[in-house]
Amino acid sequence: MNLFNLPSSSALTTPITRAACLALDAQDPLARCRERFALPEGVIYLDGNSLGAMPRAVPARMQRAIEQEWAQGLIRSWNDADWYPAPQRVGGRIAALVGAEADEVIVADSISINLFKVLVAALRLRPGRRVILGENANFPTDAYVAGGVAELVGAEFRAVDSEDVLAALNEDVAVVTLTHVNYKSGKVYDMAAITKRAHEVGALVVWDLAHTAGAMPCALNACNADFALGCGYKYLNGGPGAPAFVFVAKRHQDGLRQPLTGWHGHARPFEFSQSYVPAPGIDRMLVGTAPQLGLIALEAALTAFDGVDMQALRRKSQSLTSLFIALVDQELAGHGFGLATPREPNARGSQVSLTHAEGYAIVQALIARGVIGDFRSPDILRFGFAALYLSHAEVWDAVATLQDVMASAAWSAPEFMARKAVT
Ligand SMILES: Cc1ncc(COP(=O)(O)O)c(C=O)c1O
Repeated sequence: MNLFNLPSSSALTTPITRAACLALDAQDPLARCRERFALPEGVIYLDGNSLGAMPRAVPARMQRAIEQEWAQGLIRSWNDADWYPAPQRVGGRIAALVGAEADEVIVADSISINLFKVLVAALRLRPGRRVILGENANFPTDAYVAGGVAELVGAEFRAVDSEDVLAALNEDVAVVTLTHVNYKSGKVYDMAAITKRAHEVGALVVWDLAHTAGAMPCALNACNADFALGCGYKYLNGGPGAPAFVFVAKRHQDGLRQPLTGWHGHARPFEFSQSYVPAPGIDRMLVGTAPQLGLIALEAALTAFDGVDMQALRRKSQSLTSLFIALVDQELAGHGFGLATPREPNARGSQVSLTHAEGYAIVQALIARGVIGDFRSPDILRFGFAALYLSHAEVWDAVATLQDVMASAAWSAPEFMARKAVT
């Protein structure tokens, strides 16, 4: 029996034991991928949704980039070490993970900057329409950028509750901007249904894939998506501040006018012409010089996905998150936790969020015991399950640690109360 095909942990025999978790790990077709990551001893890392673990392929590649390509090759490496075409090359690698063609994705800038570029470009594709539609619970930068664009171009940014998005789609809307997997709740939007409805009223859609890319399969082209963006530092494991990516469907590329008309998006940057001529295709989404070291780290990190079937990754991710929820039910009843993530596996991404009035201190106490999650104000304890490097036994051990933190009231120690800058 292949337990990874189980839709949820409700099919596991209760009470769930650590031995049952080890049995799941013994059948895990992705268990071999754990070796691809350098994780510290004694740490259970449940924060790959904020900063992915470091793939082992990265340090050697970085050493070569620094000591040979930079130190020895110097400026010649833009040509000789293929630095210049890296945004397209790495974009093509990410395209395969998000259901796009290689020439529809390019690596550039951050999510925030890419969102600015595509929102302005989308508004220009819908002259006469003045509404950018968003949702109230989106990641703040998405709302801030949409609000900033609206102010700049004289449009209106209209945010509604997530369940009202479909109803709010009408002929006034130029573009809808949504995050596919919500950063707090882990709830997943139906990309196909929302994109279809948006197109029926003539609107375009921008998908933020921050919590999707590398975490679960994504079918941008099968959903007829218009634009998407995502970061390199979460489930793609590209390192802190890794460059982001942007997707533009091929049908929108020619004629697309993005507002940050920098020289790397020019058709012939090294002619140094005073007039801007956009590059053909996805290249026009580039702005300035790419952060090469970050790109090189991201490219090396992406080899951790070599040979990985994204459907198998999804099955394992659902198995891990279902197990976590079942163990919280089993081990933590009566400790004041709520569940902010849908119980239905297909309705969530690769994270589980709990609520608790003392959430911040509990997360700090967990981190002190080597179980690393994070906290999102006001009361969310967030746990990400990167299926490439986590095991079911670790999920068991993490919940056992949480149980101990609660039963012993270890979280109430003064050192866990002081808020750090990054939560
Ligand atoms: C949904 C979402 N969008 C955007 C961002 C951040 O974007 P940027 O790459 O511009 O920092 C995050 C960061 O956690 C996020 O969760």
